[in-house]
Amino acid sequence: MRDLRNIVEQMSIKDKMAEITQLCGSGYGEDENVFMGIDYQFELAQHMVDNVGSVLGISGAGRVKAIQKKHLETSAHKIPLLFMHDIIHGYKTIFPSPLAMSCTWQPGLVKVSAEIAAKEAAVSGLHLTFSPMCDLARDARWGRVVETSGEDVYLNALYAKAYVEGYQGNDVSSRYKIASCLKHFAAYGIAEGGRDYHTTEASEYSLREYHFPAYKAAVDAGAKMVMTSFNALNGIPSTGNQWLFQDVLRKEWGFAGTVISDCTAIVELIHHGFAADEAEAAKKAIDAGVDIEMVSNTYYNHVQRLIENGKLTEAQIDEAVYRVLVMKEELGLFDNPYKDADEGLEKQYVLCDSHRQAAREIARESMVLLKNDGVLPLEKNAEKIALLGPFADSRQMLDSWSVCGEEKDCITLKEAFLEKTDIKCVSAPGIMKYEETRIEEAVKLAESSDVIILALGEDPLMSGESNSRMDIALPGYQELFAERIFSLGKSVIVVLYNGRPLAIPNIAKKASAVLEAWFPGTEGNRAVCDVLLGDHSPGGRLTMSFPYAVGQCPIYYDRYSSGRPAKDVYHSDRFSLRYMDGQSVPLYPFGYGLTYTQFKYGDVILSKHLMKKNETIMASCVIKNVGERQGTETVQLYLRDMAGSLVRPIRMLKGFERVTLKEGEEREVRFMIGEEMLKFHTLETGFAAEQGKFRVYIARDASVEEYAEFEFFY
Ligand code: NOJ
Repeated sequence: MRDLRNIVEQMSIKDKMAEITQLCGSGYGEDENVFMGIDYQFELAQHMVDNVGSVLGISGAGRVKAIQKKHLETSAHKIPLLFMHDIIHGYKTIFPSPLAMSCTWQPGLVKVSAEIAAKEAAVSGLHLTFSPMCDLARDARWGRVVETSGEDVYLNALYAKAYVEGYQGNDVSSRYKIASCLKHFAAYGIAEGGRDYHTTEASEYSLREYHFPAYKAAVDAGAKMVMTSFNALNGIPSTGNQWLFQDVLRKEWGFAGTVISDCTAIVELIHHGFAADEAEAAKKAIDAGVDIEMVSNTYYNHVQRLIENGKLTEAQIDEAVYRVLVMKEELGLFDNPYKDADEGLEKQYVLCDSHRQAAREIARESMVLLKNDGVLPLEKNAEKIALLGPFADSRQMLDSWSVCGEEKDCITLKEAFLEKTDIKCVSAPGIMKYEETRIEEAVKLAESSDVIILALGEDPLMSGESNSRMDIALPGYQELFAERIFSLGKSVIVVLYNGRPLAIPNIAKKASAVLEAWFPGTEGNRAVCDVLLGDHSPGGRLTMSFPYAVGQCPIYYDRYSSGRPAKDVYHSDRFSLRYMDGQSVPLYPFGYGLTYTQFKYGDVILSKHLMKKNETIMASCVIKNVGERQGTETVQLYLRDMAGSLVRPIRMLKGFERVTLKEGEEREVRFMIGEEMLKFHTLETGFAAEQGKFRVYIARDASVEEYAEFEFFY
C-alpha cells in the first residue's frame, strides 16, 4: 500500500477539509466537466471544488472520466475523486424494489441483482453505492419501507449480507465491483407515526434485538462505508451520536471503514436543536466519528477555526482524511482513477439481454399471490381481456429510488400480453382522478370481455424518501372504480403495483384473485404476464404484514406478548389486546403467499423434548403437495421463548427452507435447533440463552397456531 499517511501530512487543513466533503453532482452542468454551482443554499469556495474528495449522483463513463481528468489537474495532491450514487436495486436494468425482492426469500437472487447493478454501475464510472438500506421497517405509512427488506430481523440480516457481497465481491478493486455503503445507522425505520425524518425512541434492548442485526451483518460482510441516519435516536441525532459510531460501530463491531453523513444531515443538527450553529454542528459530527460531510459544508467552513480554538484536534481530522484515502486505495483509484469506466463496455453491458433476463426472473420470484379463487392461472384460450386501471398500459414500473433507470425501457402490461399471447387485450385508462365517462368506458369493456384485470396501485412517488402517507388505502378513486367493476358480478383479477403494504380489505374480499406485483422493475410486466398465464408459479412471501386499516400500523408479527392477549384464560376478550372497532390481526400476515398448488403440513415433530446446553434438537414436519401441479413452498421455522428475564417476542423467524414438490409428492423438512437460536440480549449475562420452555412452529406463515414444545436447561 502506498504511504497514505505521508499524503495526509502534505495536505493543508483546507485541503483536508475538501477531501472529507462531498459535492452534489447536480452542480456539474449537463455536458460540462466543470462545477457550475448547485441548487442547495451553500456557498462553495473554488478551492473546495478543486480539491473535493467525492461527488454524489453523477454517472456515465464519458462524463465521469472527463470530470476525473479535470479534477486530477486541479487537485493539489492529485488525489482521485470518488464517484458515489444511489444504485439501490439496479443501475439501468432495474430490479424489483428491495421490499419486493425480499419477498423472494432468496438472498442468492438479491446477490445476483447486486452483482449486475455493480457491473453496470462500474462500467458507467461509479465507485460506490449507497446500498444496502438495513433499516427494519414496521410501519407501512413510512414511504421508505419500499427500500427495505421488510419487518423481520433474521431476513433483513441475510439480505444485508447478500447485497454487500454482490456489490463488493472479495475485492472492491477487482473488475466490475463497487464499494457498498450501508445505511442509515441507526433505527431510521421507526420514525414516529411513520413520518419520514421524524424522531425515534428505542430501548437498547430493542435496538440490539431488532434493529442492529442487519447493520452488523453488512459490517461483517465487509461493507466499506456506513451512512448516518436523519433521525434523533433517544434524544441524540444519529449524525452526532458518539455512542452509535464510536462505541457500537467502531469499538464493538470493529468497523474500520468510512462514515458519511446523510445528505446535509450535519447542518440539520441545528434544526434538531442539538447544535447552536454550524461550527458546533461540525464539531459534534467530527466527535461522533463522521468522516465525510455530504453536500453541506460545515467542515470546510469551520473546522480550521475549531482546531485553532482547541475544540477539535488535527489528529481527528487526519484520521477522517486517512480513512477516505484508504478507501480510494482499496478501490485501486490511485493506480487507475477511472477504474472500470468504459464507454464500450457501457454499451455492451448496460441493459443487455442477460441482465434483462435476470431482472425478469427475479421479478417473477418477488410477486406475492395474495388471493386466488381458482381464476389463475389464466386460460390461454381466453378471447378478450379487459385491462383496466392506472397501471394497465403504464410504464411506471420503477419506484422513486431508480435514479438511473428510465421508464422508456419498461414495457406496459398490455404490451407484455400482446407480445406473449394472441388474446385480444383492450385497456381503459386509469382512474386516479374521478372521470365518470372513463369509468363507463371501462365498464363497457369489462362487460364484453372474458377476463377482467384491474391494474391498480400507487404512483411511484407515493413511496420512497419523504413520501409518507397517513392513509394507506389505494389512492384516488381506485376503490370506487374497483367497486363499480365488482358490481358487474364477473370474476375480477387485481394486480397491484405499489411500494408499501396497502390496506385493501374490500379488494381482498371481492376480487377473485389478487397478485402483489410491487414496483417490479424494467422487466416487471413480462414477469407479471409469466405469472398470470401460469408460465411461472408465484412463490413470493410477504416480508411485511398487510393491515386491514392504517390505524393498526405499526403492525408486525414478532411483537412482544401482552399481559392481556386475546383468548386469555384470565380475562374475557373484551379486556384483551385489541381494537374495539376493527381487527387486531393483519389482513395478510408476515410470511404469507399462495401459489398454484396447495400444501398440507403434518405435525411438528421434535427429536427430543429436553435440550441441554451444547445439544441440538431436530424439528421436522412432513409437507405434502396436495394440489394438481408442481409448486414451491417456503417452509418457515419460528421459535418462542415462553418466559425470560425480559419479555420475548410471540415468535421469531429462525430459519426457512424452500421445497419444490411435484403433485402428490411429500417430503420431511428438517431444521436443527441449537443454543445460538435461543439467545437474546439479556441484562445480566449478555447475549445468552435462558433456561425454560420454547415453542417450535414449522409453518406456512406467521399466523399458524400449531406448535411443539421443548425445555432448555444448563
Ligand atoms: C438521502 C437519503 O436519505 C439517502 O438514503 C441517500 O443515499 C442520500 N440522500 C444520497 O442520495
